[in-house]
Amino acid sequence: MRKAKITALGCYTPEHVLTNYDLEKMVDTNNQWILERTGISERRIAEAGMATSDLAVEAANEALRQRGIAGAEVNAVLVCTVTPDMLFPSTACLVQNRIGAKGAWGFDLVAACSGFLYGLTTGAHLVASGAHRKVLVIGADTMSRIIDYTDRGTCVLFGDGAGAMLLEPAADSEEAGFIDFVGEIDGSGGDYLKMPAGGSRIPATAESVAQRLHYVHQDGQQVFKYAVKKMSELCDTVLARNGFTAKDVSWLIPHQANRRIITASAERLGLPCDRVIINIDRYGNTTAGTIPLATRDALESGRLKKGDLVLFAAVGAGYTAGASLWRWGY
Ligand code: UT7
Repeated sequence: MRKAKITALGCYTPEHVLTNYDLEKMVDTNNQWILERTGISERRIAEAGMATSDLAVEAANEALRQRGIAGAEVNAVLVCTVTPDMLFPSTACLVQNRIGAKGAWGFDLVAACSGFLYGLTTGAHLVASGAHRKVLVIGADTMSRIIDYTDRGTCVLFGDGAGAMLLEPAADSEEAGFIDFVGEIDGSGGDYLKMPAGGSRIPATAESVAQRLHYVHQDGQQVFKYAVKKMSELCDTVLARNGFTAKDVSWLIPHQANRRIITASAERLGLPCDRVIINIDRYGNTTAGTIPLATRDALESGRLKKGDLVLFAAVGAGYTAGASLWRWGY
């Protein structure tokens, strides 16, 4: 078994900024409510005509540039998203073609806000098994395409963005790399966060569109409670079974859904907030994009360093949840 390590990280966010003040003009909300209840000040929105593969390709190319390799060297492309360009072909196929990953295989992975974590774990195992030497894991979502901008309960939360991490085998002598993952899905929570139409249950009809069923529908309070409980629980489990405690964690890099979910989870874990990466203020919830975007911010600000013990954690629609431990390698 070869341990997988993260060797490059590329991100992309669209240029257009949608602020809380812009939203005040669109729905019955205000900057103070959004800031206090969610921690969000602004989010990025992709321009018309842009799709998830466009964001994903930008992020992927940035990761390849950083590593100094061509797309042709990539063995597998995993695109984690709930907003694929279309249901098929997969966004992974579109990305593979555009980054020139000739001969690679790949697929889309649907796990909503836990998507990137699930992709990272899957990729780490592809590397660990010896099957592949270079796996590109991309979290990309264009949430603005499935958000109802007349629903103040959801439209203030989400934004568009993408991030990609390259996974490769670590040298035998290296400490860096994947340590462990614990995940859990619980379909009994499926009704609390979903896009009801557009699949085989409710195919698109004039009626389904009129009923606004092709948008995100959420019971925010239910999701909030589950997220705090599950995020801290899974973090505890993955730490304990590897002989660590919260004291050993250099950085918690959580999915960014709500600042209050993050701080409440950290508090339950016994982790001080100065060891938690939060950038929800600038990007909102970009679904599968949040963890790479937050990791990039941690790296660029000089906080995340080689040798740090990193705890990634996420909870999302499904429900899906996961926590994974990594030793940062560069
Ligand atoms: O990545 C996983 C995906 N999603 C999540 O993790 C989301 C989890 N849930 C949340 O983050 C929070 O539940 C929300 C931010 C969605 C809502 O915050 P809350 O503190 O749970 O508010 P609430 O739903 O209990 O609503 C409180 C009040 C209500 O008014 P009344 O009934 O007290 O008069 C809402 O109608 O706030 C009202 N409200 C708003 N007011 C201004 C709801 N949305 C807004 C808004 N602006 N945008």
